[in-house]
Amino acid sequence: MVEYYIDSANMDEIGEIVGAGLVQGCTTNGSIVKKENRKYTDIARDIIKNFPQLYHLSVEPIFDENDLDKAKKDILTFYEIDPTRIVIKLPPTLAGLNVCRWCKNNKIKTNITAIVKPVQAELATLAGATYISVFWGRIGDTGLNPSLILSSITNAKFNPYIIVGSIRGGNDVTGAKFSDPHIITIPHKVFKNFTNNPKSLEVIQEFNRAIIEKEKQ
Ligand code: E4P
Repeated sequence: MVEYYIDSANMDEIGEIVGAGLVQGCTTNGSIVKKENRKYTDIARDIIKNFPQLYHLSVEPIFDENDLDKAKKDILTFYEIDPTRIVIKLPPTLAGLNVCRWCKNNKIKTNITAIVKPVQAELATLAGATYISVFWGRIGDTGLNPSLILSSITNAKFNPYIIVGSIRGGNDVTGAKFSDPHIITIPHKVFKNFTNNPKSLEVIQEFNRAIIEKEKQ
């Protein structure tokens, strides 16, 4: 069965979804973190401390290909927060794959992110990635069929765990599940849409009203 992660850096959002036992991991990126107005490392520390139920926290430090020493230093700062649960997101570029191999040699878990074509998944595998993230919505933006790209990656049975990211709605989750990935990372608002069906709410309200009316009699 597919596992779900939450794609968020917001403590309330994560708390609500973790509290219900729906997810085992959390993914973040610069855009998600920007909304929180706090230092990225502080957010990562809080997620690790507040949610021991999560075995995975993906973080994406700034990656400047012209300053790999700085990139490695930042990676180590995040890694040291919790070496067993922190996973470092890296780009699928040649520099990213070189740093991926360096991480592997130093026992640092990696997530090669923003994958939009199968060959990137293959090269990430060769570089020793722990996870790869296939970006469903972003593939769709290019006019290609995310389902075909994802299934050619899942069918190849590469070593890394396959995460599907860039999920924008419930149909994306349903579509992604057909390709049998290991993990789908989902924003809070999509979890909310799944659980707040108007028909279900209508029925529950009908039953609540019936009890209230009965108690008035
Ligand atoms: C996943 O790891 C990413 O954080 C995320 O899903 C990217 O989604 P976007 O395409 O909506 O930015």
